[in-house]
Amino acid sequence: MKKLDYEKLLMIPGPTMVPNNVLTSMANPIIGHRTKEYSELLEDTIEKMKKVFMTKNDVYLITGSGTSAMDMAISNTVDKGDKVLTITNGNFGERFCKIAEVYKADVIRLENEWGDDAKPEEVREILEKNPDIKVVTVVHNETSTGVRNPIKEIGDIVKEYNALYVVDTVSSLGGDYVNVDKFNIDICVTGSQKCIAAPPGMAAISVSEKAWDVISKTETKSFYLDINAYKKRYESKKETPYTPSVSLTYAMNEALEMVLDEGLENRFKRHEKLAKATRAGLEAMGIELFAKEGARSVTVTSAKYPKGIVDSEFRELLANKYGILVAGGQAQVSGKIFRIGHMGKAREYHILGTLGAVEMAFRELGYDVNSGIDAAKEILRI
Ligand SMILES: Cc1ncc(COP(=O)(O)O)c(C=O)c1O
Repeated sequence: MKKLDYEKLLMIPGPTMVPNNVLTSMANPIIGHRTKEYSELLEDTIEKMKKVFMTKNDVYLITGSGTSAMDMAISNTVDKGDKVLTITNGNFGERFCKIAEVYKADVIRLENEWGDDAKPEEVREILEKNPDIKVVTVVHNETSTGVRNPIKEIGDIVKEYNALYVVDTVSSLGGDYVNVDKFNIDICVTGSQKCIAAPPGMAAISVSEKAWDVISKTETKSFYLDINAYKKRYESKKETPYTPSVSLTYAMNEALEMVLDEGLENRFKRHEKLAKATRAGLEAMGIELFAKEGARSVTVTSAKYPKGIVDSEFRELLANKYGILVAGGQAQVSGKIFRIGHMGKAREYHILGTLGAVEMAFRELGYDVNSGIDAAKEILRI
C-alpha cells in the first residue's frame, strides 16, 4: 500500500483532523477490558461525555460508528407497526427513515427541501393529528446539506406529547450548542470523528427515564446493540457488554478532555466564527451558498458549484495539488454542491488556506473568481 508522504488537510465534514495528544493516547498499552483500570477509564470517559451532552441521563459508549448509535436508538424503542415521525431534509434524516423501516415501523415523513431547515410548527401539526406517534427523530446538523435544524424549538413541542424525542448530534456535539436536558432530548446520539476530534469508530448515546420506560416495553431486536445489555453491564461492573476498542476509549477520553479544557462556550464561538468566515469568503468569491440563510450550520458549509465546474475535477485538484480535502454532495445534490467542514480542531489558518486553494482551483478550472481571503480575514481578526 502506498504510504502518505504528507498529511492532507481534512476539511471534510468528518472524519476530522485529530490532535496529536489524542493520537498518541492510542499508543497506551492495551489493558484488559474486564479490569479495574479499564472500568476507571470508561467511567471517566462517560462522565466527560455527560458534560459535553449536558445531561444527567445515562450515557453509553459503543464501539461502532455514528450509525450504530442511530440503530441502537431505533431498534430499542420501535416495534413493528409503531408510528415514527422522521423529520428529514438531507441524507442523514433519510437514514433514520431507513433504519425505522428495517424495524417495520409505520414511518411518517416530514420532508423539507434540502438546504432548508425543519419547521417546528409542522411537527406540532403532525403530532396533533397523530397522537399515537411513538418516536420523533431529527438530525441536528444535517451534514449532507450544511443545515442546522432547530432542535430546541422542536424539543419544546415534542415534550407536550407522548412521543420520545430522538436527536442525531453526530456532526454538532462539541461544536454547536446541544443541551440534552434543556432541549428535552430523550435519546441523543453522536460519533467520535467530527466536532469531538477523535478518530472514527466510537459512538455515544444518552437515554432519559422516559426512554427507559419505552425501552422496557419494546421487544429487543438486536444482539450487539441491545441497550439493556449495556445498562446491565455498566451498572453492575462499569464495563461494556462486549470487548470495546480500548485504544479508542483512550482517544475519546483525551479528546473530551480537550473539549472541556477549551470550554464548551469557547468551542461554540470558535465554530461559529470559522463558519462565518468560510461563508463570507465563498460569497466574496462569487460562489452561492447552498443552505438558506438562517438555516446554516456552524460546522459545515455547503456551496453550489458554478456552471461548468466538474465536482471530481475540482476536488481532485484541491486534494492532489493543494493537499486539501473537501467533500462533494450526496444523493440528490451529488455533483451540484461541495462542502467544507470546519469542525473539531479546525482553526483560522485552515480556513484561510482552504479558501485560498478553492480560489486557485476554480481559476485553474477556468472559472474566474474574486479572492475571498479579505472577507474571511475581516471576520477572523475580531
Ligand atoms: C449527521 C450525521 N449522522 C450520522 C452520520 C453517520 O455516522 P457514521 O458515518 O459515523 O456512521 C453522519 C456521518 O457523516 C452524520 O454526519
